[in-house]
Amino acid sequence: MEKGKKIGVLTSGGDCSGLNAVIRAVVNAASLKGWTVYGIHNGTDGLTDDLSYEELTIQNFSDTPWPRLGGSYLGSLNKGIKMESLEEVSKRFAIGVKKLGLDALVVIGGDGSMNIVSNFCRGTDIKMVGIPKTIDNDTPVTEFSVGFSTAVSVCTKAIDSLDLTARSHHRALILEVMGRDAGHLAMHSALAGQADVCLVPEIPYKIDNIIKKLKEVKASGRSHAVIVVSEGIKTETGEHLSGAKNLIGEKVYGGIGQYLSAEINSRYKEFQTRVTTLGHVQRSGTPTAFDRALATMFGAKAVDLLAEGQHNQMVIWKDGGVKAVPLDDVVKEGTTLLDPQGDYVKAAVKTGMYVGEL
Ligand code: F6P
Repeated sequence: MEKGKKIGVLTSGGDCSGLNAVIRAVVNAASLKGWTVYGIHNGTDGLTDDLSYEELTIQNFSDTPWPRLGGSYLGSLNKGIKMESLEEVSKRFAIGVKKLGLDALVVIGGDGSMNIVSNFCRGTDIKMVGIPKTIDNDTPVTEFSVGFSTAVSVCTKAIDSLDLTARSHHRALILEVMGRDAGHLAMHSALAGQADVCLVPEIPYKIDNIIKKLKEVKASGRSHAVIVVSEGIKTETGEHLSGAKNLIGEKVYGGIGQYLSAEINSRYKEFQTRVTTLGHVQRSGTPTAFDRALATMFGAKAVDLLAEGQHNQMVIWKDGGVKAVPLDDVVKEGTTLLDPQGDYVKAAVKTGMYVGEL
């Protein structure tokens, strides 16, 4: 793309730490090429409802703390589009893009957003490039998404704190973490925090074997334990627990920690159990150095791709570097789950953690 082009940038899906560092990188790299950048507010809503946007320049991010903070400067939208209204929203999207005179759009989102927004773009002349972000780290092809490192760090700090209070009171403390259908966040932080048990949606488990592990801990002379559970695991009888529903009627998971606590308590009396549900603090907090550096590399690469005339691509981190893959490949793959045979699980088992029935 030559000088004088206009691009839009938006954040879509659940927020996470590092989004503002991505926005800054896109704005800086594009502005230095002489392009105009419009920040679109509240995900695609800023294009599909009443137009809501602002022009972003290097100054917007150079003398404010925003790039060092969690949240999204632009606002975001999680699961706000019903599939049955996709056609209708697509039309409004095309009108919004035309009104703003955008040549290209950088979408900072997870697997769902890549799917939905790339569908919207198909009906327009707009060139889209995606940048993966999610605390779930389940966006296909990329090894890391922006926000995951910070969320792992938040969960690990929580495990460290729980370990100390568990020690004081001789308890088995349960930490319920996010991740929806993928166990990356749970397993990564359980490894870092040296938890005794980690349960993820990808691996079935038996409560009796959790108790067996707690008995081993007790027999070893330690009278406290930490159990990490991913919100997306099912009960032993195969049910997903949930508290609420999102805007498109999907269950928002929650409650599995309490279920396990009650089950463990009723079968084994040596440890009292208590539950901490970490919730949305995992989505915020000061972004780690890794997330900020990744955000900057992704933002710069996205602008380079557009400058080279490449679009319908998503930037990725793979084999130690930043690369790009066709968005269609990302959409085709769906969600990347934790590999039960992979190195994280292997290391957990070899160091004595109960991870379920492999
Ligand atoms: O996809 C990110 C995520 O934080 C999941 O881990 C979690 O299940 C979901 O979003 C929560 O969504 P909401 O913020 O809409 O409750």
